[in-house]
Formats: sequence, C-alpha cells, structure tokens
Amino acid sequence: MEAGEPSRTAMMAATARGLHRLEEARPWLFDDFLGLVLVGPAWRDIRTELTAALSEPILRIVSTMSATRARYSEERLSVGGFDQYVLLGAGLDSFAWRRPDALAGGLRVFEVDHPASQAWKLARVEELGLPSSDRHLFVPVDFEVETLDLALDRAGFDWSGRTFFSWLGVQPYLTVEATEATLRSLAKSHPGSEIVLSYLIAPPLMEDIGRTFHERWVDIAAKVGEPVQTALTPEEAEALVRRCGLDVAEHPTRDDVEARFFAGRSDDLVPITFEQFLVAAVPG
Ligand SMILES: C[S@@+](CC[C@H](N)C(=O)[O-])C[C@H]1O[C@@H](n2cnc3c(N)ncnc32)[C@H](O)[C@@H]1O
Repeated sequence: MEAGEPSRTAMMAATARGLHRLEEARPWLFDDFLGLVLVGPAWRDIRTELTAALSEPILRIVSTMSATRARYSEERLSVGGFDQYVLLGAGLDSFAWRRPDALAGGLRVFEVDHPASQAWKLARVEELGLPSSDRHLFVPVDFEVETLDLALDRAGFDWSGRTFFSWLGVQPYLTVEATEATLRSLAKSHPGSEIVLSYLIAPPLMEDIGRTFHERWVDIAAKVGEPVQTALTPEEAEALVRRCGLDVAEHPTRDDVEARFFAGRSDDLVPITFEQFLVAAVPG
C-alpha cells in the first residue's frame, strides 16, 4: 500500500459482500447492507474491473466467499459472550453500524487497520454521517512495523476482558514474521479469547475454480500494490498458531463449510478451495 492510498483489496472485499446481497436471491449468506455504501460510487468501477479480470462466474463465487467468511466469523462472535471485538485489518467492515445492539449491550469494538486504509475509512464515515460511539475505537497499525499489543495499549484495550479477534483476508498480504508477531501479541489476551483468521491455502491444495481465481488474483493484488506474500498448508497454519501460544479450536475444511452454510440451497452457490478458516483460542 502506498502512503495516503487506502487498501484497494479492502474496497474489493466490501464490494464483493455488497454484490452478494445485490445479485443473489435470498437467503443471503450474509447481509452486509452497508458494503457498497461504504465503498461509495467506486463500487461500480470495481465491479467492472473485477468482472473483466476474473469473469462474471468467478466474481460471483468470490462474492459468495467474502460473504461466507463474514458469516462464519460473526456467528462465532455471537455465541462466545465476549467483552471486546478486535477486527484486524478491518477494511470496510460495517459491523459497528449494522449491530448497534451489540455495542449497546456492552461490546467494545476496536477496528485495527493500516493507517492509510483507516484514514480513508474515517473520512468516508464522516462524509456519510455514520454515528460514532465511545465503544467503537479505531487503531492505526502497520503489522509489518509495529506490534499489536503496543497499539492496543494505546487505544485502551482491556487485557483482562475476553476478546474475539477476527483477521479476515489479511494474512495472505503479510510476511510470516508479521503474522507471527501479531499472533504472539494477541496470545497475551485473557484465557478463552479467540481469533478467527482466514489464510490462503497452499496453491497445490486448491481445486479447479480456487486455482483459477488464485492465478488471476495474484496479478490483481500485485497491480494494486498489495502483493500476495504467504500461503500455508493446513498443517503449517496449525503449527503457526501453536508456536505462538494458541490452541486450535476449529479448522473446518471446504466440505465442512459447504455442509454448514450451503446445505439445502436451491441455487448453485458453493464454497471454493482458496482460503481456509481457522479458529485459535488463548489457553485457559
Ligand atoms: C483484503 S482487505 C480485507 C479487509 C476486511 N478484513 C474484509 O474482509 O473485508 C485487506 C486488509 O488488510 C489490511 N492490511 C494489509 N497489510 C497490512 C499491514 N501491513 N498492516 C495493517 N493492515 C494491513 C488492509 O489495510 C486491508 O484493510
């Protein structure tokens, strides 16, 4: 990411979530009714660019994927009884405005993101007149240069609170060193705290559409200045979180995700083998 330039992949991810609810029949996997609003009028150009680069059918599947990971993460958050929610690499996530009930119920939400991306989002939020809350905090951090614990300290994070961290669609753009430093930071959280992360699965393990999407995505991401840096096998992902002091709590396969979220759909939507979810917990 260039200084002063927000993350283009964050705009693409929010556009994809918005397109899912705009272009698919119900039931939607996830209803991000603010996705396109936060991106602004640029979502139309992004849609055109992605259709040209990926093809219409692959964009449709990618939109499904973006919606599925948000669904997976927010479902886990909703059953955990957490005190704090930290979105790492928040991008244009809209949880705090979609779920004012969660904040009113006492949940503190920390949006952590690269300073350039966050500055753009804050300006956009101001422009839209979206409400602010003292339970909704913004924490600028570059994971490649600063550790998460220092940044959270600055923002008034409570290390004694049970916390849910999400880290969706970010790890592929980081070095293993930055990923590890961030995981070690959050492993200091209160026992029972959790992180759900999505990682890019090693390309030899991708199937059909996942592999085609990966080949095209690597080019797109490089062109927007956010090159893909890291992919992991499931064994490597588990070893990574364990050596950072976390336990593996859930690590669903593509088939698990299909059975859980796609069973009984009357359309042809399915998950792809491209990114995989992993939930890790701070041991008690
Ligand atoms: C593909 S977007 C995903 C955004 C969001 N999590 C979602 O699912 O819509 C990648 C995000 O990672 C953030 N990011 C990339 N490199 C980063 C870094 N070195 N430090 C902090 N954030 C970074 C970007 O600013 C962007 O918000």
